[in-house]
Amino acid sequence: MGAQIREMVLADYEAVVALWKSTPGVDIRPVTDSREGIERLLARNPGLSVVAVNDGELVGCALASHDGRRGFLQHVVVAPELRGQGLARAMIGTCLERLRQHHLGMVHLDVVVDNESAMAFWQKAGWHRVDTLTRLSLAL
Ligand SMILES: CC(C)(COP(=O)(O)OP(=O)(O)OC[C@H]1O[C@@H](n2cnc3c(N)ncnc32)[C@H](O)[C@@H]1OP(=O)(O)O)[C@@H](O)C(=O)NCCC(=O)NCCS
Repeated sequence: MGAQIREMVLADYEAVVALWKSTPGVDIRPVTDSREGIERLLARNPGLSVVAVNDGELVGCALASHDGRRGFLQHVVVAPELRGQGLARAMIGTCLERLRQHHLGMVHLDVVVDNESAMAFWQKAGWHRVDTLTRLSLAL
């Protein structure tokens, strides 16, 4: 049986974090990626984040959210043994379909600068690098 894509729920948290931790290039944040942080994300963005489940095992996830103007994708990961089967494309497609219902102009995502594989993946999927903007951040 192929993997299934479904809405992420808080009960997925431990398996999702285990997948992130086992994936080089995923930057796990202490506040926003804590259980409470993910609970807040899911509550503020109902139905937007998804997971992929194969034979009862969580093998993929994609966090999606929006602020009313822009959408965001974060922590898109597929377990190594399930890569190359269209799972990321399916998860992202589901996220984008749901984000489109919120009348947003754009969807953004961050790629760690040396994650060339991820950059190649996103560009192949039609995402473009924004060279006219520099992201500024301040810790709260
Ligand atoms: C990037 C990642 C999510 C892709 O997952 P995946 O399930 O293997 O991707 P898919 O099978 O859905 O691939 C969709 C398409 O992208 C292509 N693709 C997949 N990985 C690619 C890569 N690293 N570089 C270029 N193209 C890639 C596939 O060949 C496929 O092409 P097609 O449309 O011609 O068939 C997965 O490799 C991963 O988890 N990487 C580590 C975590 C990571 O870096 N995430 C991104 C954070 S910004």
